[in-house]
Amino acid sequence: MQKAVKKDYKTLKGEITIPSDKSMSHRAVILSSLADGKSIIKNFSKAKDPESTLNVCRLLGLDTEFKNNSTLIINSTAKFTAPNQELYCGNSGTTMRLMAGVLAGQKFNTVLTGDESLTKRPMKRIIEPLELMGAQISSSSGKSPLKITGKKLHATDYTCELSSAQVKSCVLLAGLNAEGKTSFTEPFTSRNHTEILLKYMGANIDIKGNTTTIEQSTLNPIETEIFADISSAAYFIAAALIVPDSKIILKNIGLNPTRTGIIKVIKQMGANIEILAQKEVCSELVGDIKIEYSQLKGTKIGKELIPTLIDEIPVIAVIATQAEGKTEITGAGDLRNKESDRIKAIVTELKKLGADIEETRDGMIINGKTRLKGDCELETYNDHRIAMSLYTAGLICQKEITVNGFEWVDISFPEFEELFEKIKQ
Ligand code: S3P
Repeated sequence: MQKAVKKDYKTLKGEITIPSDKSMSHRAVILSSLADGKSIIKNFSKAKDPESTLNVCRLLGLDTEFKNNSTLIINSTAKFTAPNQELYCGNSGTTMRLMAGVLAGQKFNTVLTGDESLTKRPMKRIIEPLELMGAQISSSSGKSPLKITGKKLHATDYTCELSSAQVKSCVLLAGLNAEGKTSFTEPFTSRNHTEILLKYMGANIDIKGNTTTIEQSTLNPIETEIFADISSAAYFIAAALIVPDSKIILKNIGLNPTRTGIIKVIKQMGANIEILAQKEVCSELVGDIKIEYSQLKGTKIGKELIPTLIDEIPVIAVIATQAEGKTEITGAGDLRNKESDRIKAIVTELKKLGADIEETRDGMIINGKTRLKGDCELETYNDHRIAMSLYTAGLICQKEITVNGFEWVDISFPEFEELFEKIKQ
């Protein structure tokens, strides 16, 4: 689907509620399916990726129903049954990597598959620790389909070179069903929703610095309401910062410090941002964000911050084109292994708009401030975050742009354009 974006509005104003957090939606279903009893998950995401997780759990025998459209009721016996087909994870790396951790220790065999993009993504990062725990997984040179032969697992102490929440969650979920104490250590703390939710549901889990330890545990069912996704909010934060005279409020955003790197970075850049009402929901920090058009300056984003803003880098690149001076992003090499090579994708497309931006091995360098031109077609590389970042850039282009493959937005944020229409004045 092609989407035309042009400056057919004066500014962005208003208060909006961003949809439910994708990472939390995946985890809420998976962990509820491992608890014995009824879980109630309010505000479950309507995006395609969490739907993939839900479908996979259903194929494994999970009893689920929706009430009032977005409240998901899960009646679980804490036991999966052997599926009679392959488990299709769509575009979702989180579904495949987290479910591999759950499935490696089952008494039956499974096959995890995905779409064209997912079958090209690296899975060695989860196969390696799972095999150390006694798992049997065959892959096609470290890529999916993953053929998992269920085995009895034992604990391991695993040190990962990468800070990856998906790898960490995979190992912890396998550890939940393994004999002994499993530990996972990463260089910098990646998003820790799995650990927080596991603890909240009663797991024997211990978190010390960048090391998490887990033992076999029984989980209690939960009743929770999923907060809004800061990774989706990021496009609105970016738009408010770069569209003159904007002022918006984003409600009920998840503010877990392992996800708020974008807030740190834009503050460094000089953003007018305020965090309003804050509260805790199931041990996770939640609050409202007020953000205004700001005069920005370039900044440095290094490896220690990367896990806290990994999904926001394409849209941070858009913001950086509107900041005075140089912005340098380093230590983000794994961005090349996402739904697309996001370094190449965003650099190539922003260049078409006239941005002064260059690829490096593990990041990019952007020199601002540039008036973005438009009057061209841009590609999304079948990647939702590239599609939304380019739309955001299109809001300030001098001439109309066309974004090809805009339908990929539905992977994480089907309500994206409708919400932008609400705040365009
Ligand atoms: C996610 C973790 C991140 C992120 C992805 C969602 C998760 O991946 O890029 O969109 O929900 O655990 P990595 O942890 O592999 O970097």
